[in-house]
This record gives sequence, structure tokens and C-alpha cells, in this order.
Amino acid sequence: MSDLVVVNCRQVVTLAGPARARTGAEMRELAIIADGALVARDGRILKVGTRAEIERLASADAEIVDAGGRVVLPGFVDAHTHPVFAGNRADEFEQRAAGATYAEIAARGGGIRSTVRHTREAGEADLLAAARRYRGWFLRGGTTTIEAKSGYGLTTADELKILRVIRELGAEGSLRTAPTFLGAHEVPDEYRGRRRDYIRLLIEEMLPAVWREGLAESCDVFCEPSVFPVEEARGILEAARALGFRIRMHADQFSADEGSLLAAEMGADTADHLEATTERGWTALAAAHVQPVLLPASVYCLGTHRYPAARQMIERGLAVTLGTDFNPGSSPTTSMPLVLSLAVTQLKMTCAEAITAATINAACSLRRGGRVGSLEEGKLADFAIHDCDDYRELPYFFGRDTARAVYIGGVRQIW
Ligand code: NIG
Ligand code: FE
Repeated sequence: MSDLVVVNCRQVVTLAGPARARTGAEMRELAIIADGALVARDGRILKVGTRAEIERLASADAEIVDAGGRVVLPGFVDAHTHPVFAGNRADEFEQRAAGATYAEIAARGGGIRSTVRHTREAGEADLLAAARRYRGWFLRGGTTTIEAKSGYGLTTADELKILRVIRELGAEGSLRTAPTFLGAHEVPDEYRGRRRDYIRLLIEEMLPAVWREGLAESCDVFCEPSVFPVEEARGILEAARALGFRIRMHADQFSADEGSLLAAEMGADTADHLEATTERGWTALAAAHVQPVLLPASVYCLGTHRYPAARQMIERGLAVTLGTDFNPGSSPTTSMPLVLSLAVTQLKMTCAEAITAATINAACSLRRGGRVGSLEEGKLADFAIHDCDDYRELPYFFGRDTARAVYIGGVRQIW
């Protein structure tokens, strides 16, 4: 493969810096190279610098891409998605507008359990076809890596089916995936009234099967008093950790602190949502170095107005991270540019903090900080050319997908 050279970039937003998640004032340092260029060789970044420096290094047969004075960013790393499901829930979306709440819809058998019914009926090929369609959407927003959860199967066979789809999607090479097992997303219909049996199935059958097949690196639990309360969540996560899974958690989406305290106790990599978290939870997460993954698009879409307290978290030294929470219920969006906009307008993050949270911090939350999330020598050549003159325009001109070209390992994916 010949070298790939990208020139004429008004800004190359490199995020170069320490090889760990960024906290505090570090989140505002983007290490931008003005009028920059980069060269990639064998799928990795060889150098980022001025055009003259780059052209000196590149081989004579290099492919030259003119960015047209646009802005180059590392591919976004979306730290929380549920991308494999059948059907959608546009009907519930409309019911919520008419006044029904997410919890009411769930209580009458809609919500997650409705997507589970459709997903169980779908074959692997159909699910893969749907996931490929969503992959195109992720790419158009400039995303190159997603954390991808199962959780709409809730039988051993259906969870394995979903995780195989995630593996296949990753193997196709057009979007990197970090798989997470979320069998504890909900108690399925057939276990209503005997939830302990479902938890036994999770612990004794599903977790070992997923681990044996190497289909997930992390385990997540929807920890919420009305879904999996702390005592149950702890049991599931301890079993997962004993097998070797790393831990991510849906925590404090609706009720305060229990989830975040458990995430801290378990030494989780991340605690996600945190809309209801208070001082107690933030302090525990900071002491245990758990990364908060904030998902403002789900707050927006549920219309609840309770956004997580990003400023307090940043002030306490937490390595704030962002994700879309792409799913058919609470957050049907793949757009990291939209999430950046919400981070600035609703979470009151600076544009630079939001971009750090969507790139290097997200990569570190997935233990991929040495490979993706910044444009530095030796890292994978995963980047996007965005149609703007300044990185702040990404959240500013909101509601559009900004990527003009997206490269994964130096290979162009769209347009
Ligand atoms: O992260 N909170 C739980 N899971 C998803 C919602 C999934 C769904 O509604 O299908 C979330 O918001
Ligand atoms: Fe989620």
C-alpha cells in the first residue's frame, strides 16, 4: 500500500498528549496544528506536521489527498452504543410526545422488551444487514470506533447471535468495534415473576458461553432499582469479573448514586448515563478512577431535561467521556456531532472538552488509547475530514453530519 498524504488542512486536531485519559484543564488542550498535513504508512500515522515536513517524508508514489482547507480530526470513538436490533420504536417515540413516559411504556411490555421480541425473530443475516446500514450513518458523523453492546436477545442463543453480528461487523473493517455483553439489560417476558432464575441463567450459562467464544471484552448491567437493583447487579458483575470481563455499567440513569457507588466498588472502567448522580457518586467515581460516559442524546430524546452534571465531574478530576447511546428506544442517533452540540449547549462543556471526551477519553475508556483517539506517530490512521473551518463549528452548526471523508487504517470508507 502506498503512503497516504493529506495536505491543505486548516487545522489538524491531533489530541497529542499523555497516553491516558485527559482530566481537568488537559481536556481543553487539543494540540492543533494550523495549516497542517499528515502522512500514513501501512495503516498507521507516520507523522503529523507542516506540509513541507510531510512531503519530505512521504514516498514518491504517495497518494495525495487535498483536504481543501478543511479540518481533520481523529475518528470519533463512540463509547456506548446498542447497534444490533430489529425493527424500531417510532411508535413509542410518538406515544412519549403524547405524554407517556419511558417507564410507563416499559411497564406495559413495550420498550426494551418489545425490541427483544423483534430481535429474537430476526436471523443473523438480517441483523447484520441492519447493522451495516447503521454503520454508514456512524461513518457519516465521523465515527470510526464504537463500543457495541448486545442486550436485545436475552436468551443464550440470541445474545450469542447478536455478539456474532458485532464480531462480523468489526471483521469487515469499515468500523472498529469493541464488544460488550449486556444480557442484564432487562428481565425477559418469560422470566417475569422468576427473575432469580434469569440471573442464574446469566451467571451460569450466558457469561461462560460468551467468554468461551471470546465474543465480548466487557460486561454491562442496566443497574436501576426497577431493572437490576444493586444486589443483583453486583452478583452478575462479580461473576463476569471472575471470568475476566472488564466492567461497564448503566448507572444512575433515573435514580441517584446506587449505580455509581457500585461502579466504584467494582473498579469498573466506566459508569454510563449518571443523569441522577449526586456529589456522593461523583466523589466515589473520582476516587476509583472510573470514567463517566455521558449520553446527552438519550436525555434529549426522552425529553426529560435532566442532563448529567459534566462541569462538576470535570472539576472533580473525572475523565469525562461522551457517547451516542445509539439504540431504538431512548437514543436513536448515531451522530457524534449532535452529541458534541448537546455537550456544549446542555452540559456546558467547552468545544475542546467535548472533542477530548469524544476521542482520546473514549478510546482510553475502551483501553484503546494507545491505538486510536488521537493523531500521533504510530497510531492507527483513523481520521475524518470535516466540512468546517474551525473545530468549534462541529458543535456550533448543529444537526448535520459533517464528515466529508473518513479513513480507517488509512483506507477511505465513504465518498
Ligand atoms: O442506554 N438504559 C438502558 N438501555 C438503553 C435504552 C435501550 C432501549 O430503550 O432500547 C439506554 O438508554
Ligand atoms: Fe445504553
